[in-house]
Amino acid sequence: MKRIGLVVSGGDAPGINAALEAAVFTLAANGAEAWGIRGGFVGLLAADLKPLAADELLGSSARGGTLLSTSRDRVLAEPDARERLQQVWAATSLDGLIVLGGDGTIRRAASLLSAWGYPLMAIPCTIDNDVPQTERTLGFDSACNRALPIVDAIRDTATALAGRIFVVETLGGSTGHLAIAIADAAQADAVGVPELSLDVQEMGQRLAAAVARHGYGICVVSEGIGDVPRFCADLAEAAGHRVRLTALGHAQRGGPPSYFDRWLGRTWGELAALELLAGRSGVMASWQAGQVSSVPVKAVSQAPAKEIDYLRYERINSQRQIYATT
Ligand code: F6P
Repeated sequence: MKRIGLVVSGGDAPGINAALEAAVFTLAANGAEAWGIRGGFVGLLAADLKPLAADELLGSSARGGTLLSTSRDRVLAEPDARERLQQVWAATSLDGLIVLGGDGTIRRAASLLSAWGYPLMAIPCTIDNDVPQTERTLGFDSACNRALPIVDAIRDTATALAGRIFVVETLGGSTGHLAIAIADAAQADAVGVPELSLDVQEMGQRLAAAVARHGYGICVVSEGIGDVPRFCADLAEAAGHRVRLTALGHAQRGGPPSYFDRWLGRTWGELAALELLAGRSGVMASWQAGQVSSVPVKAVSQAPAKEIDYLRYERINSQRQIYATT
């Protein structure tokens, strides 16, 4: 009977539990054992494993966070990691791994394990949506859905009392994928991302023009732009209006997955289990052009950083339509 380990590394994301539940069900249905590794790769090197029974996991697809705890430690980069892992692998008799994590996990850990010859399937999970070779990562859709009602609620108070500018700070680390998606869907007046330099004077003028047009301005920024409270103070000066900040923080990362993340998580979890059982490995589940597929982990680790959607960024900041009408 095959024994497959499941490990989550890096930040948790809604949809991870759906992937875990589906993978465990698929493994059980195909006569394989599922072993949950606690605490990411730290747990793997410490052989901290527990059996995962399909019946016990029933319903966990609905929950945020992760059933298995995670960690950000880069233990696989330690000098004796390869040797320790060889010992753990022999002692636990694992036949393969399903690795769930974000850009760092897939570029570094999954590609290292693959290069060392361990059979693995990777599933891209991060609210940041910054993993290359896939248009979506698990958690991104949920994090957008968590943010949108908050921006909408801000618009209510903004409309009621004119003359203010609202800055909404999203998570996203050093990337602006989340901020652009949210700003676009929420019809914000401006967006700021770490990938592009930010001219506060120019943004102040743009938001002052929005206040003149409809009574308020809404600006969405990624946490990665740097000192956001300082940015707000500079923006207030440049625009000549009060600026109010809402930082979404980790409330944006927790909570139940959206339908899409739950569905994609279950689909990818099943795919990962089936691919491993069929003897395929070294690949990452992907979503491209509306299709589920898989791409070599090596291609992900060698790819440049995923580009932000420049077209949408431009559209938001220039208040133009993205598709020209002819
Ligand atoms: O996992 C990605 C992410 O949620 C980023 O958006 C954010 O900057 C970071 O993790 C926060 O990390 P931590 O939870 O370790 O504070």
